[in-house]
Amino acid sequence: MLTVLKIGGSIITDKSRPYSIRKNVIKRIAREVKPYIETGNKLVIIHGGGSYGHYIVNLHKKLGKEEDAEYYSKVTIAMNELSIRVAELFRIEHLPVTVIASHTLFELDDNGNIIAHDLSIIQRHLDKGIIPMLYGDLVLGERGFPVLSGDDIGWYLACKLNANRLLFATSVDGIYAGPIGQSPIIDVIDFRENGTINAFFNNTPGLPVHGYDVTGGIWNKIRSARKYGCKNLDVLIFNGLVEDNIRKALLGERIVGTRVLL
Ligand code: IPE
Repeated sequence: MLTVLKIGGSIITDKSRPYSIRKNVIKRIAREVKPYIETGNKLVIIHGGGSYGHYIVNLHKKLGKEEDAEYYSKVTIAMNELSIRVAELFRIEHLPVTVIASHTLFELDDNGNIIAHDLSIIQRHLDKGIIPMLYGDLVLGERGFPVLSGDDIGWYLACKLNANRLLFATSVDGIYAGPIGQSPIIDVIDFRENGTINAFFNNTPGLPVHGYDVTGGIWNKIRSARKYGCKNLDVLIFNGLVEDNIRKALLGERIVGTRVLL
């Protein structure tokens, strides 16, 4: 079994304080990952930028310095540092992780399409029992240095590596059918029943803009799943701050969340 697990930046960092990590949460997540690994399964971890990446990107946006080479240097180093800190906490729990810097594997074209370099490096790590850890990052664009989100990397890798499962551990319970807190969580979005993803989008007017992230970008990301040719992928968007949820999700146990079936 191969699972791609995206851990939201708002889980592993404290978004209200720049450059702050939540050590205890990360250690807990590492312990929750263990039973899945110990039963011989394979895992790719991707984490978000939280109070590292997002903080610097927002700062530079305000200054209008998004094209600057020093900005690229600063963000890629900060994200690498965050990833090393997360990986080290996993290693202490005896999980064989290694960090693979996302900006060395991916670029983006002007239309926001991923250009990937040789992904076999990830497969070869998996074959040797290593857990590759990637992260949302700045990457080289045709012009400037766009952000490639960890969510996009998750979809891309899950599709290209033929993963069985793609898990999004976020700081909310799933995708809400309307405004957060005032509407229920959508249990299942079954694209197989709806024919194609296109049919789903065409037949579902007024999709809620409140996804699990502030930009509502989840719908665009689900759209990308089609672009990357995902098939037979079981996707779950759930709350990774709820203790034991990550362990259960990895082992396929039932938890509250939104399942997307492709
Ligand atoms: C963002 O990655 C990376 C940078 C801002 C450089 P994500 O978009 O995956 O991060 P989170 O999960 O929302 O924090």
